[in-house]
Amino acid sequence: MKLVCTFPASLSRYEIEIGSGLLKRQSEYLATLGSRFAIITDDQVASLYGNQLLAALAGLEAYLFSFPHGEKSKTRSTKDFLEDQLFEKGLGRDTCVIALGGGVVTDIAGYAAATFCRGVPLVMMPTSLLAMADASIGGKTGVNTPYGKNLLGCIYQPKKVVIDPLTLKSLPESEIKNGVVEIIKHGLIADRALFEYLEERSDPFLKLEAKVVEKAIFESVRIKKEIVEQDEKCSGKRNMLNFGHTIGHALEVLTHYQIPHGQAVAIGIVVESYLSMQTGFLPFDSFRRIQDIFARFFIPASLPAHLNPQTILDAMTLDKKSLAGQPRFAIIDEIGSSCSFNAQYCTHVEKALIQEALENLR
Ligand SMILES: NC(=O)c1ccc[n+]([C@@H]2O[C@H](COP(=O)([O-])OP(=O)(O)OC[C@H]3O[C@@H](n4cnc5c(N)ncnc54)[C@H](O)[C@@H]3O)[C@@H](O)[C@H]2O)c1
Ligand SMILES: [Zn+2]
Repeated sequence: MKLVCTFPASLSRYEIEIGSGLLKRQSEYLATLGSRFAIITDDQVASLYGNQLLAALAGLEAYLFSFPHGEKSKTRSTKDFLEDQLFEKGLGRDTCVIALGGGVVTDIAGYAAATFCRGVPLVMMPTSLLAMADASIGGKTGVNTPYGKNLLGCIYQPKKVVIDPLTLKSLPESEIKNGVVEIIKHGLIADRALFEYLEERSDPFLKLEAKVVEKAIFESVRIKKEIVEQDEKCSGKRNMLNFGHTIGHALEVLTHYQIPHGQAVAIGIVVESYLSMQTGFLPFDSFRRIQDIFARFFIPASLPAHLNPQTILDAMTLDKKSLAGQPRFAIIDEIGSSCSFNAQYCTHVEKALIQEALENLR
C-alpha cells in the first residue's frame, strides 16, 4: 500500500509505503539517496532490528548508532552525542540518515538529519505503532527541554517513510495501546468512520490481527497526511492534531515522563473532550463514547489523583500553542469533526472551566 505526501509550497513530495517485510527490501532505493548511511535507533530496537537492517543493506556503507531507549533520551545532549558519533566515523554531507524506531527515534534522528551538515536526506522506518500511525508522518522533529516537550526542533520532511507492520510482533502490548491512542485521536478530529471501526474492533486489534491493524494504520496515516499537506508549516489546520496534547504534554512534563506519551494523550483527550462539551460544542453522548473507547482498549484515561489542577494549569503555559502564556486547546464538535475557530483549530478556554474539568475528571 502506498500513499504520497505532497507539499506544493516547498515542492516536496514523498512516498509512504506500508507492507510486511518492507524493511528488508530498501537497499536499491536507498542507494539513490546517498553513498553512506547512518542508521539511528535506540538500544532496544537496535538489538531487535538493527543488525537485520544492516544485513539487508549489505554492499552499502552503513553504520548503526544507538542511544538508551525512552522519552528521557529525547534531549539536546542525546542529539549532540549522536552527531559526535557520526563525525567520529567521518560521515558528512553524502550521508543519508535512517531513523529506525519509535517516535523518540524518529523525532530525534529527524532533527539530527535536519541540522547535520545543514541537512542530509532522511528516511523514516518507524517500528512502534505510535510512530507508524503518527510520529513518522508530517516532518515534525525535535527534542524536549526541562522547560517543556518538543520545545526545540524543526519541520523537516523525509525522502520516504517505510512502514513494516511485521515489526509490531515484538512490540509489548502496553506500546500497542499507546499507539492506538493517536489513531483514536485521528478518528476523533477528522474521521468518524475510523473511530467507529476501532470502537467495534478493540479485541482483534489488541490481538494484532494483521488486516485490522494494517487498515487502522493506513487510515491513520492518510488522515494525518491530508491534514499536514494543507498546513506544512503549522499555521492553523495542523493544530487539530494536538487534540488531547495540551493536557497530555503537561502530564508528561509534570511526571518527568513516567506516564508514556500515548497514555498521557489518552487522559488529555478525555479532559479536552470534556472541555469541548463544557464549551457547548460536543454532545454528552459523544463524550461518553470517547470515555468508553478507552475502556474497550483497557487504556486508563483518568487524571492521576496526586496531580493538583493548579500545577497542571501552570505546566500548560509553556505549551507550544500558548499565546501570551495562555494555553489553547483543540476542540471537537462531534466525533470526527474539529472546530475551526477562524481556521486556527484551537482556542483559549476560560481558566475556571479548565479547573472544573480537571477537578471533575480526577
Ligand atoms: N513528530 C510527530 O509528529 C510526533 C507525533 C506523535 C508523537 N511524537 C513523539 O513520539 C514519541 C513517542 O513515541 P513512541 O511511543 O513510539 O515512543 P518510543 O520511541 O519511546 O518507543 C516506545 C518503546 O517501544 C520500543 N520499541 C519500538 N519499536 C519496537 C518494536 N518493534 N519492538 C519492541 N520494542 C519496540 C522502544 O525501544 C521504546 O522502549 C514522543 O516523544 C512524542 O512526542 C511525535
Ligand atoms: Zn502525540
